Amino acid sequence: MRDRFLFLALGLVLGGPAQAAPERLVGHGGPVKAVVAAEEGGRVLTASFDYAVGLWQISDSEARLLHRLIGHDAAVNDVAFLAGGRRAISVSDDGTAIVWDLESGKALGRFGETPVKALDVEVSPDGRLAAVAKWDRRVLVIDLETMTLVSALEGNRDRVNAVAFARDGSALYSGGGDGSLRRWSLPLPDKGIAPHGVLREQGWGINVLRAVAGGVVVGAVDGSVLVVSDEGEARELFRFERPVMALARSVDGSQLAAGAGDGQLRVWETGSWEERKAFLNDLGPVWGLSFDVEGEVLWLAGLDDEVYSLPLTGPPRALPEPKEQPRRFHLREGLGPGAREFQRKCSVCHTLTPDDANRAGPTLYRLFGRRAGSLPGYPYSQALLDSDIVWNEETVAALFDHGPDVVTPGTKMPIQRITDPGRRAALVRFLKGATGGLAPGADRGLKE
Ligand code: HEC
Repeated sequence: MRDRFLFLALGLVLGGPAQAAPERLVGHGGPVKAVVAAEEGGRVLTASFDYAVGLWQISDSEARLLHRLIGHDAAVNDVAFLAGGRRAISVSDDGTAIVWDLESGKALGRFGETPVKALDVEVSPDGRLAAVAKWDRRVLVIDLETMTLVSALEGNRDRVNAVAFARDGSALYSGGGDGSLRRWSLPLPDKGIAPHGVLREQGWGINVLRAVAGGVVVGAVDGSVLVVSDEGEARELFRFERPVMALARSVDGSQLAAGAGDGQLRVWETGSWEERKAFLNDLGPVWGLSFDVEGEVLWLAGLDDEVYSLPLTGPPRALPEPKEQPRRFHLREGLGPGAREFQRKCSVCHTLTPDDANRAGPTLYRLFGRRAGSLPGYPYSQALLDSDIVWNEETVAALFDHGPDVVTPGTKMPIQRITDPGRRAALVRFLKGATGGLAPGADRGLKE
């Protein structure tokens, strides 16, 4: 709060032209894990918990959602532009990386190897390679010209959270749960083990990495932001109170931004490493950050479905107050037990109204009497399309008694069970009352 006023005061003194960026990007149906602005053409990509990648066209004060890229079977964690902005690559909790054609919105290729989370993706400065950080302790390297997986780098002793290419293209850095910062020399050998060394070992896990001239910036679980040179010398730039969750470098390399789990946000000049700005995002953790081409606007993603722009020059714009937001994660007062179950366990992915609001799952409106996988327009998994289940009290209860992975194997609904029979019954009762009656044409033999 204090920072917001400080910033406001500073802005009034400095004045300057108003920024043209729209205040927010509205269209995702779930929290946004990553945001990235193109280096030309005014486009922005977003990766969301709603299983989709968003492609946005920004012009003056307007943002248009050009495509929702559908193909991942779980939350999308990160995304990057390729090929001069004509393609993109995204990574997901489903373990895969997908290469997209941004004109048609179609998937061109899919890489994964294991169904273990893929958290971070980076493209080499020459645009030829992509590196993917996986929780199976490996870094996948994809040749984007031949569209082949060229390497799976092994060395990290725990899950890999972050990857970054050196600015001069001479190396790839990786870091993760084991706290070691590894540096892999490029180009990788055609065969055999890729040569690499540990630049730094530290007690705390590494969450995020961003290359800068002569080294790499590390954002760690203990809240520290470290600038590590290629000789392994580290300098602590700042220490947040909570884990560092996001790092961004401006296109010209002159600014670095970092965001933390408590919503704190800092911007530095990279030459002097002097702090330029400080913000507080009252809405919660900072998960994604990106500078616009000019380095005058910072895009901010987090727990909310909307992405916000923060002007770094000119008159400041306050971040929205939490009360303005539909905080689906915060329980409302006075809910019955079934409504609470729905609110806590389902509402992040499902609505109860005819509109699915772009959430990860289909709307549950008129669920009872509906055949599984039958809502027109929703991109179901083959498992649900092929299923002959009809949703009723018994089948919905069974779904959470045994779990979606057992009742509908191959589904993209996450594994979850409600083992307490009382809670399960309360949820089903609530859904019966709240989903707007029987599906059209439903079998009248269903229990009302
Ligand atoms: C993280 C997101 C997520 C959460 C949380 C979630 N679901 Fe789902 N749900 C999905 C997705 C995605 C599908 C589509 C599955 C597919 O196509 O395989 C789905 C499908 C369904 C279906 C089948 C609908 C149809 O049209 O056939 C039902 C019923 C359902 N969910 C109920 C629930 C309930 C009740 C809860 C809370 C206890 C819940 N879901 C929690 C993502 C979620």
